[in-house]
Amino acid sequence: MKLPTHLLWRLRRRTVPVGPEELQRRFEFEAGDAFQGVPTATFAAGGLAQLKALRDLGLEPRSKLLDVGCGVLRGGYWAIHFLNPGCYFGVEPHDGRLALGQRLLEPGVVETKRPRFDTNPDFDLTVFAQTFDFVIADSIWTHAAKRQIEAMLDSLLKVIHQRSVVLVSYLPSGPDLGPDYRGSKWFGTSHESDVIGVIRQDLGWLLDQCSRRDLAVQQLTALTLDEQSWLCIRRAQARSGDRPEVAASDDVGKLTG
Ligand SMILES: C[S@@+](CC[C@H](N)C(=O)[O-])C[C@H]1O[C@@H](n2cnc3c(N)ncnc32)[C@H](O)[C@@H]1O
Repeated sequence: MKLPTHLLWRLRRRTVPVGPEELQRRFEFEAGDAFQGVPTATFAAGGLAQLKALRDLGLEPRSKLLDVGCGVLRGGYWAIHFLNPGCYFGVEPHDGRLALGQRLLEPGVVETKRPRFDTNPDFDLTVFAQTFDFVIADSIWTHAAKRQIEAMLDSLLKVIHQRSVVLVSYLPSGPDLGPDYRGSKWFGTSHESDVIGVIRQDLGWLLDQCSRRDLAVQQLTALTLDEQSWLCIRRAQARSGDRPEVAASDDVGKLTG
């Protein structure tokens, strides 16, 4: 039997990433009509932009990266290829999305790059018994309840070191923007919900939660990935010499914590 061309790639072992157009085709085939938690049309470009943002902040192949709510591996696909074996870690409670993301990887990549995944829904980031140089949570605080953000920050403290860089996106609330989310549950699609939606967070509340945990926050005003606002969070007591430079030259940011 002859395999259709869009499935032929599965027969080839290939441990370098394909180009964005090919990955986009692969994703659209796997996703079909179902919403996978991220915009379909910009799947490949959006994931590549995540990797670029991390690299601008100093991500190297030897860095250990934790991807919180990694979904269908939109950023994970590129990060797994870029990082050395054993350096990518993803948490995603929706096992169907995680399985789809893994199907995007070429045969042999899981074996050679050894990414690790966990499906806990509790924002428990200690499950890998590992500290991380970089943590990314793209479009997670745009759905999370405040108690989930608090749980994530509490857990973060156990898995970051003095030089760790945490990159988090959110949508700010405000009189002209929309209300601060006060609900007690995740809002948006997940392992438990098919309802699409996003919520907003009060920046003051986020800064206060970080400050209570001795975390310093920099607003990355030049980063517009996913049309969201981005925060770079680090341990407040990290000495300046311990901090990687924010590489984007136009990104002066603002130290707020
Ligand atoms: C908007 S998607 C973003 C996915 C990915 N970060 C990206 O940028 O492509 C949010 C993801 O968070 C996942 N999620 C839902 N509840 C979660 C939880 N309790 N902990 C971690 N991730 C969760 C969803 O299943 C979904 O895949």
